Amino acid sequence: MEALQIFVAIFILALASSLTFASDPSPLQDFCVAINDPKGSGMSSLQILSFFLSYLCLCLMNIQTCTGYESYDLSHSYLSHPFIRHLYSSFSNINSSFFLLLLCLLTENSAKMQSLAKQMTSNFSGLHIRKNTSNTFGSTVTPVNVAQMPGLHTLGISMVRIDYAPNGGLNPPHTHPRASEVLVVLEGTLHVGFVTSNPDNRLISKVLYPGEVFVFPVGLIHFQYNIGNTYAVAFAGLSSENPGVITIANAVFGSNPSINADILAKAFNLDRKMVKNLQSKF
Ligand SMILES: *[C@@H]1O[C@H](CO)[C@@H](O)[C@H](O)[C@H]1NC(C)=O
Ligand SMILES: *[C@@H]1O[C@H](CO)[C@@H](O)[C@H](O)[C@H]1NC(C)=O
Repeated sequence: MEALQIFVAIFILALASSLTFASDPSPLQDFCVAINDPKGSGMSSLQILSFFLSYLCLCLMNIQTCTGYESYDLSHSYLSHPFIRHLYSSFSNINSSFFLLLLCLLTENSAKMQSLAKQMTSNFSGLHIRKNTSNTFGSTVTPVNVAQMPGLHTLGISMVRIDYAPNGGLNPPHTHPRASEVLVVLEGTLHVGFVTSNPDNRLISKVLYPGEVFVFPVGLIHFQYNIGNTYAVAFAGLSSENPGVITIANAVFGSNPSINADILAKAFNLDRKMVKNLQSKF
């Protein structure tokens, strides 16, 4: 009898998922969250049904151990219904972790299917167009990562176009927590650099002319600065579909809510007034 139930569970599970293998060489995001497009993501109704049926089978197999509910006082709520109590208590058993594992597998699987569909229709264009750099820093970054081009999902790569205003257009010091970056200058003259980690904090920098390439290793703080009197443009490839950006000044002085000014005053050896001033600018 038990063997039959296992067979049925496996059979129904087989209907609910197709074989999909994919991986990314780096974590995909800051936090592990569901993909942000609820339409078409998650499970189809067939998958939910088969999933639910397989869960019931598992629960039946495990019924003797589904007794964890005694520790909860459920007597005065709808939760006291025997079926709900049964489900509830199942969660405290070993099969609840199996349940969650299945849920993850199925959600993941349908995310892959969704991305496959989007991959077919990805359509990003306009990277050849010069961007407006009239802003505080005199630079504009145009990213093409998984947010702009869902087809990059699970592929572990992305790219950016960066435009710099003449005479000091700056891509301010920042870091990509999940990607190394390789940059090529197409026009203009850029002073670029990155700083190694503690304790050396060594600045490695260079002046780049058109056609020259520089690499910023993952996680290290880096910048590009237009030292020419002409407009500059560079392209860069990044080793993650979702590299992330932490702009140092914004993270430190522009956090929301603000970091206590006393902390920053001490950390940066500044007086409190100066910190408040900086905080008002980011
Ligand atoms: C791709 O974008 C171009 C211009 O933005 C548009 O003309 C074209 O119809 C789009 N193609 C698809 C398949 O969305
Ligand atoms: C560039 O952006 C600035 C500020 O947003 C705006 O005033 C200006 O008209 C823009 N220039 C062009 C050519 O679009």
